[in-house]
Amino acid sequence: MQYQVSNNAAADVQASCIVVTLDQSGKLSDAAQAINSASNGFLQARVEAGDISGKLAETLLLPGVAGISAARVLLVGTGVEAESSDKALSTTSAIKVLDAIASATSKQSGSVAVSLAHLADNTLNEAWWAEQTAMAFGRAQYRFTATKPVTETKAEEQPKQADTLIWLGDDVSSSLEKGEAVAQGVNYARDLGNLPGNICTPSYLAEEAEKLAADNANVETIIIDEDQMEAMGAGAFVSVAKGSIEPGKLIIMKYQGADNADEAPHMILGKGITFDTGGISLKPGAKMDEMKYDMCGAASVLGAMQAMVALQPKQNIIGMITSAENMPAGHASKPGDVVTSLSGKTIEILNTDAEGRLVLCDALTYGINHFKPASIVDIATLTGACMAALGGVNSGLFTQDESLADELQSAARYSNDKVWRLPLEDDYQELLDTNFADMANIGGPLAGATTAACFLARFTEGTPWAHLDIAGTAWGGAGKSKGASGRPVPLLVNYLLAK
Ligand code: BES
Ligand code: MN
Ligand code: ZN
Repeated sequence: MQYQVSNNAAADVQASCIVVTLDQSGKLSDAAQAINSASNGFLQARVEAGDISGKLAETLLLPGVAGISAARVLLVGTGVEAESSDKALSTTSAIKVLDAIASATSKQSGSVAVSLAHLADNTLNEAWWAEQTAMAFGRAQYRFTATKPVTETKAEEQPKQADTLIWLGDDVSSSLEKGEAVAQGVNYARDLGNLPGNICTPSYLAEEAEKLAADNANVETIIIDEDQMEAMGAGAFVSVAKGSIEPGKLIIMKYQGADNADEAPHMILGKGITFDTGGISLKPGAKMDEMKYDMCGAASVLGAMQAMVALQPKQNIIGMITSAENMPAGHASKPGDVVTSLSGKTIEILNTDAEGRLVLCDALTYGINHFKPASIVDIATLTGACMAALGGVNSGLFTQDESLADELQSAARYSNDKVWRLPLEDDYQELLDTNFADMANIGGPLAGATTAACFLARFTEGTPWAHLDIAGTAWGGAGKSKGASGRPVPLLVNYLLAK
């Protein structure tokens, strides 16, 4: 999409559609009133006729309004009592309004002008509105075509899409560009998540990371293959990867944006299990196809890195992906096997379905030893327990570092990519005790999301670290709306940019 900023009068804006608002009482915004005057009271007449009342996210599309330059007017309700006062639209309501606009204009080609600047307040300022508008259009325009291409005949039936967004108000170009970069990162993560396990393998993810480096001078990609992992003693990682014909990969993307190349990087680390059968502790068959999404942490790292590279902040960032396929096989790990992790700590694998923490722990050790990061956030579809606790609304946030918690929570609020903090206390550590190794890879039936985080905490060596369990938020829906969400790309990008 292209972006323009304009302060033309509403009636004079040349666009295929101009979007203006009204409040809950049916009162037109200033821009809507200007169009109303130019059209001899046409909008007011629609309100009086009851065609629209102004409820939250209600829309009315009016083609051919006389006396104005735009080809159509989209009226959208904000649901607030009075737009001019301390109306305070909540973040969730604001995004509902934007999604309604993006969806109501999704059948139009050409340009869409939006007059929303008057909705800004101290919390959701104009820059925020502009960024979120760009993101809403990005979300609405997403189509998954990789394995279900749009044929030429069908292409004609597909809704046309707006190609230009015109922001009526202050010069918020950089916010529009940021929104676009984040939206593209989100859609990239959705594409990767939606790809099936036979296409999106660890090698596929490695190739995607290589592409990022090939296209950008200040990105370097390093791939460590399964043999190298084995040779260095990454027994936890290998215990998962060895059960599959697909070779496991540790994928590292180094983005150098800081003037000082040696400045300690901030790291994001994603779980990239490209299919999780459970291994010998085989999962039940129902909905097992959804375990193709077990690489959504990795997808969010690729999506966030793509957005960061587009924005070129002066920071050093490392995106890391630990990737394998979890399969049952003659050479797969068995319950009771004991392996030695890269850290030297031994692990009794009581359940081969708790594989995410096994590939993550060696990646943490490798990342800390090689890059001495200033901080690490890992992102993983780690536990069904987290999904049961938080559903699809909040990702689980685990950390003992209060400033990381603050930073992640504030980025989550800003981007509406929500997190809820769950406990990570040493009191839970004893649930991982076993007679046969330094730790077991599961902690029994209680506090499953926390014991998974406790396991990872043992490999962080004092580095400021937080863990995001995205099992409930990375994908969702049923039928036609089933698919990857692209979360938590918005959270990650905003978190990193604020560093
Ligand atoms: N990838 C799963 C977690 C998962 C389950 C994510 C369902 C999304 C939906 C993970 O590898 C797993 O299998 N975890 C086990 C851990 C258990 C064996 C301790 C789980 O949550 O059941
Ligand atoms: Mn599993
Ligand atoms: Zn898994």
